[in-house]
Amino acid sequence: MTPGAACLSRQGRDLVMDGVSLKALAAQYGTPLYVYSQQAMQTALRSYQQGLSGRSHLLCYAMKANSSLAVLQTFAQAGCGFDIVSVGELERVLAVGGDPAKVVFSGVGKTRAEMRRALAVGVSCFNVESEGELEVLSQVAVDSGHTARVSLRVNPDVDAGTHPYISTGLKDNKFGIAHDQALRVYQKAASLPGLQVTGIDCHIGSQIVEVSPYLDALDRLLELVEAVETSGIALDHLDLGGGLGITYTDESPPEPCDFVKQLLRRLDERGHGHRKLYLEPGRSLVGNAGVLITEVLYLKPGPKNFCIVDAAMNDLVRPAMYEAWMGIEPCVQRDAPPQVWDVVGPVCESGDWLGRSRALAVEAGDHLAVLSAGAYGMAMASNYNSRPRAAEVMIHDGQATLIRERETTADLFALERMMAR
Ligand code: LLP
Repeated sequence: MTPGAACLSRQGRDLVMDGVSLKALAAQYGTPLYVYSQQAMQTALRSYQQGLSGRSHLLCYAMKANSSLAVLQTFAQAGCGFDIVSVGELERVLAVGGDPAKVVFSGVGKTRAEMRRALAVGVSCFNVESEGELEVLSQVAVDSGHTARVSLRVNPDVDAGTHPYISTGLKDNKFGIAHDQALRVYQKAASLPGLQVTGIDCHIGSQIVEVSPYLDALDRLLELVEAVETSGIALDHLDLGGGLGITYTDESPPEPCDFVKQLLRRLDERGHGHRKLYLEPGRSLVGNAGVLITEVLYLKPGPKNFCIVDAAMNDLVRPAMYEAWMGIEPCVQRDAPPQVWDVVGPVCESGDWLGRSRALAVEAGDHLAVLSAGAYGMAMASNYNSRPRAAEVMIHDGQATLIRERETTADLFALERMMAR
């Protein structure tokens, strides 16, 4: 079992989440099915909150990891803010009663319409990623009679040692303003109408399981904070982005609480202990709280053994997209000796696999659980091959609640129109 997934255990042969049998959920709701533990999400959040307690801070769940309403509701009720990257994400926050004053708006390509809406509802801060964006935000703010609070996302050029597609803090990445340009852009921000400079921000990547890249990024940011303040521009908060990784296999990331304490210690040592610390964790709040349940459709033994399941890359794209390793466990253990299988989906692409060379004792009709699927699973699902998206269930106090119905085939083309002839 994934060591990070404390919500999972075996009762006899049965894999259970917070005491609820995953096989029983598959029978009740069908497959593919995402199942989440609300308690695991709350526990992960509490660890961050404990680390930050007594300090001025804002914790913003990076909802791109999993933006299902019941997940957002869970975090909003626990007092958490949100990191958003689109107006769609903003509307989701508002739909669950989240507080816009606890929202930071990130992303390299915000449109004018998105800026207008975010200003109208009063988001806490825009994390601005380019000079062009700064100019447009200033115009939109002036035209709409608002003041936009801004933080510049600086690219600290540190190597987070993670997958190239999810590394964001190197100078070759599209994100942020180059470190050596930042002081000049801050001066420009301070001179533009409609803007109020409030902070500094960076995000160096995702699935980072060590603290040292964060400490490096923090040092780089503090150099800039000092230079910016010396030039006469006061900065209130410092946002270190998200990115604490989780255990998929043998990674051993620090507890969020310890991670945060190390960041705070460095801030204190450098004489910046008074600053408000913002964090935008995504994966570490939800990743190990979710599984994807799938049914084995066919076994196809041969020179390579294929275990064909009813979930595919459209349901969970991480293996296909990043060659990500995700644990796979039978929902009910069998006595038979395991054989080695490639677990693959029905989509017509050779890249459609969920796990390669997995030792499993499995038969057609069995159910498998793909572990650590709570982050970047459902949020990245698509309808490729005209496959309806999966249903989602949340476990809360030992009870399962359907939080998203399975899409129907009618849903698939409900917005499409045929030509007149
Ligand atoms: N803040 C910003 C500005 C981000 O771009 C991200 C993630 C986060 C926060 C949250 O990072 P986290 O705590 O989740 O590491 N789809 C990929 C991950 C992409 C991450 C993109 N940015 C995956 O499945 O591994």
